[in-house]
Amino acid sequence: MEHNQEVIYLAAQTIKNGDLVAFPTETVYGLGANALNSAAVKKIFVAKGRPTDNPLIVHIANLEQLSSLVTNVSSQAQTLIESFWPGPLTLIFPASKLVPPEVTAGGNTVAIRMPSHPVALALINQAGVPVAAPSANKSGKPSPTTAQHVIADFSQEEITIVDAGPTQVGVESTVLDVTGNKPVLLRAGGASKEDLEAAIGPIVVVQHSQSKPKSPGMKYRHYAPQAQVELLQTIDLDLLKKKKGRTAVLQLQENKDVRRQADLYFSFAGSLEKMSQQLFSIFRQCDEQNIDFILVEAVPPIGLGLAITDRVQRAAQK
Ligand code: TXA
Ligand code: MG
Repeated sequence: MEHNQEVIYLAAQTIKNGDLVAFPTETVYGLGANALNSAAVKKIFVAKGRPTDNPLIVHIANLEQLSSLVTNVSSQAQTLIESFWPGPLTLIFPASKLVPPEVTAGGNTVAIRMPSHPVALALINQAGVPVAAPSANKSGKPSPTTAQHVIADFSQEEITIVDAGPTQVGVESTVLDVTGNKPVLLRAGGASKEDLEAAIGPIVVVQHSQSKPKSPGMKYRHYAPQAQVELLQTIDLDLLKKKKGRTAVLQLQENKDVRRQADLYFSFAGSLEKMSQQLFSIFRQCDEQNIDFILVEAVPPIGLGLAITDRVQRAAQK
């Protein structure tokens, strides 16, 4: 803990100085900068190779920071804040003039969340400013769930990294637009649609095939390992025997025949939590082991299953 305190102190100084820090949240590692400093925020886009029309999530540690960043908090947003913050839920608000255009990609809304990871909260508190942070991966790579994943994508001279071990949720936050008449789910994630609906009623699911995506990030290919990802209804021995190439299999429940036949095999004892926690790490592991095909057996699209299905589908788009 002593060591951690000092690392967090130095990381907070780095943010104050306008430089970049990779830090853990409960979902994935973020690549953070002072959200109120345009020059600092620009460094994020350069380091990631991120298109500048893709806006960033601002991370806050208290509700005073929220009031300075937005012009209105709807009653729906208020209800969600009370039940889901701190936690893996990002809400879209009308942005105040304080938010630089680099953060919003020139738009009039801003995405905000209060993470629950104690290291993230300590970092934001000590920096004394809201922290803009996308996932700490190079654009197009799977989001990092360990500090080692961050180091694999960036050099340690380029950025300061706070290592607090593997993240718990493993997939990114849920992004919900509550600026209109009806709440719109822009990205499935760590907070389940069912839990959100229990708090505020029906949520509209956005179709990302639209030519003008509501969430700019959704038009970019994401979460992608080198290997070819396939989402399949069921994976059995016959199907596996037909695959030519080194094959990894992910199944919620173990199938012993499939395990014996696969080059790499992962099962999750029926737990969607375990599967989401390990998914991106497994994608990276498959690349290290020169896997040609990653076969993922479909999971029910409820709870974390909706986010898992979304990430696997997007990884499968070539
Ligand atoms: O769990 C997470 O959300 C992680 C951790 C670090 O907090 N962050 C993360 O950031 O996944 P990023 O940049 O990889 O994804 C942010 C998503 C993108 O799809 C982006 O387009 C969307 O949020 N977004 C950001 N600002 C928006 C806005 N004003 N309106 C609509 N979508 C927005
Ligand atoms: Mg990302």
